[in-house]
Amino acid sequence: MRQETRISEHDEEIAVFRVEDLAPGQSRMVRVAGKRVAFFNIAGKFYAINNVCPHQGGSLAKGRVKGYVVSCPWHHLQFDVRTGFGTDGGGYCVASYETCVRDGFVYIKMRRQVK
Ligand code: FES
Repeated sequence: MRQETRISEHDEEIAVFRVEDLAPGQSRMVRVAGKRVAFFNIAGKFYAINNVCPHQGGSLAKGRVKGYVVSCPWHHLQFDVRTGFGTDGGGYCVASYETCVRDGFVYIKMRRQVK
């Protein structure tokens, strides 16, 4: 008899920190489900992208933010924190994650594989 393995994907919401732990204009890196994620609070709204710059691994959470664009602290490639897309035409991009606020906590939505 043939056995089948079914794989389905679900979005998982994970609470990462309290809203007051990241003030407007600040950013921080948090490890979530084995990934290093950079969180940004821009005018009270939270954004999350992969923290690791695809060029040589700079920490995007330590970059300078102007508007919705973060500059990598190492060689200054720029990424839109809303989408993860590079904004300087170099073809680089990083994963972006949906966030939400509930009961005073910031949550991130991540895709989880279930076998
Ligand atoms: S490591 Fe980010 S621009 Fe080089």
